[in-house]
Amino acid sequence: MCGIVGYVGQKDCTKILLDSLSKLEYRGYDSAGVAVVQNGKLVTKKNKGRLSGLEEKMDKEGWLKGTCGIGHTRWATHGEPSDINSHPHGNANITIVHNGIIENYKKIKDFLESKGYEFASQTDTETVAKLLDYYYNGDPRETITRAISEIEGSYALGILFKDFPNEIFAVRKDSPLIVGVGDGESFIASDVPAIIKYTKNYYLLEENEIADLKADKITFCDIHGMSVQKELHTANWDMEAAEKGGYEHFMLKEIHEQPNAIKMTVSPRIVDGMPDFSESGISRELLNSFNRIFIVACGTAMYAGTVGKYVIERLARIPVTVDVASEFRYRNPILTDKDLVILVSQSGETADTLASLRLAKKIGATTMSIVNVKGSSIARESDYVIYSHAGPEISVASTKAYMVQISIFYLLAFELAYSNDIITKDECRRLVSVLQTVPDKIEEVLKDKDEVSHIASQLMSTENLFYIGRGLDYALSMEGSLKLKEISYIHSEAYAAGELKHGPISLINDDMPVIAVATQRELFDKTISNVKEVKARGAKVILVTHSSMSVDEEAVDFVIGLPTIDDMLMPMIAAVPLQLIAYYTSVLKGNDVDKPRNLAKSVTVE
Ligand code: G6P
Repeated sequence: MCGIVGYVGQKDCTKILLDSLSKLEYRGYDSAGVAVVQNGKLVTKKNKGRLSGLEEKMDKEGWLKGTCGIGHTRWATHGEPSDINSHPHGNANITIVHNGIIENYKKIKDFLESKGYEFASQTDTETVAKLLDYYYNGDPRETITRAISEIEGSYALGILFKDFPNEIFAVRKDSPLIVGVGDGESFIASDVPAIIKYTKNYYLLEENEIADLKADKITFCDIHGMSVQKELHTANWDMEAAEKGGYEHFMLKEIHEQPNAIKMTVSPRIVDGMPDFSESGISRELLNSFNRIFIVACGTAMYAGTVGKYVIERLARIPVTVDVASEFRYRNPILTDKDLVILVSQSGETADTLASLRLAKKIGATTMSIVNVKGSSIARESDYVIYSHAGPEISVASTKAYMVQISIFYLLAFELAYSNDIITKDECRRLVSVLQTVPDKIEEVLKDKDEVSHIASQLMSTENLFYIGRGLDYALSMEGSLKLKEISYIHSEAYAAGELKHGPISLINDDMPVIAVATQRELFDKTISNVKEVKARGAKVILVTHSSMSVDEEAVDFVIGLPTIDDMLMPMIAAVPLQLIAYYTSVLKGNDVDKPRNLAKSVTVE
């Protein structure tokens, strides 16, 4: 989704703005622009397409020169991707960049048109720029306060006023924005990777706080004009973590980072061989107090929750419901104070997941989140937060975040099973120790990645594909299928293997490859029967299973044999070849792996 940056300091800022925007490319965008205070004037350059296009434009037309400016990558919501709809928006007096959606923009636009304002773009953002202009009284803070009191929806805004040529103003609601503190320079950004090259120190802007950034001074106030003192945060990772580090794509790098990410996430939560969530304020008594669990999330995080459901129900015997956040928030869910709602989100900013959290709190359920980005909205607003320690995930297609989310669900399931007296302490310790062996097993899988790349070469010209599995293998298949769709643009569906014959088997022919996941030994024979059914109808079959399983060679075309671990933990191992299949298929098709078309990393609109 849209990315915002801003710089005020001593240096020529246009290159810095573009460099910072390039670190937000992963969020997904279709156009870009910058506005700089140049010789006392607000000058804007923007265009449809990648940042490189904007650079080329400036190479031709001249680079903007100045020490104070704002920049933006746009992911179109209101109005098609075009030069004119790109941000910044405004006029000679006020220019803004915006992330979010202004829900009542039409009403504001009608009002402003009645006052003689003209609009060049189809965006909701331009109405905010013109509204600020309408209310401008020489005092930026008062003007911003007045304007935001009129707008409904979500926004993170970076604002330049011509009359304040060495200052950036910022405000946000339901869209993230951080304020970076450098040495004689200040920044705004949607996310830490944008500014980590320049500073690790930043403030988190709270809802409707207004920031006033000068090169050497940053002040914050609330909507009543009261000054606000804020805690300075320091990022505990560096540039290298946000760079490709020799890998061709962030996705491949992040797939390889999974063993370490699991260790970083799991190790601090093991005390004396037992799971321990006390760091998050989560006690055994608390976990013992819930009758039901709801897991609510979007995309990959939701599929991590689906694995969580299978594992928690199997081990701890607590009923778990998994909901897509955009459905949960509007289905009038029945919740009580004996229910636990677990929100899962890499970014911690996904609009539907955040809205679901707020709804669950309002109804009175206990909320817990599994979040990767520190200080994000979901993390801050939930009753309990369990941070995953995956480090920054840049590739739009999520891999390591999924892996660490799952690892937390395993630990939670062990803990719930123990605290509910379903497994003994010894069994709990044994399960924890098995979980700790997962990183080494994943390393083993990664050694065979060339073999997976060969299988991907068989799939690259396929148009449709099925993933099938049973139980946990089905849960994993859904994520495998999503990964392939996201980056290879091959249509795929994940189906419960036993359900295939109730309809979709009619689609099976020799143009329809099937990836069968069969790591659950008690279900192995049943899944193989389904494999034979599709094979008999012409499908090319790729089987993902334990390397120790003996497989009827007639029934399959390729086997991906995996190192063995307890079946219950196999999704963590089997996820890796599925990620690699998606990755290599995308690479072979020449797609933009890390920035797939139409997708955004952080979806801050519903
Ligand atoms: C987008 C991303 C997905 C991600 C989903 C949820 O759709 O492209 O990769 O799984 O949002 O994001 P979250 O940050 O809440 O995990």
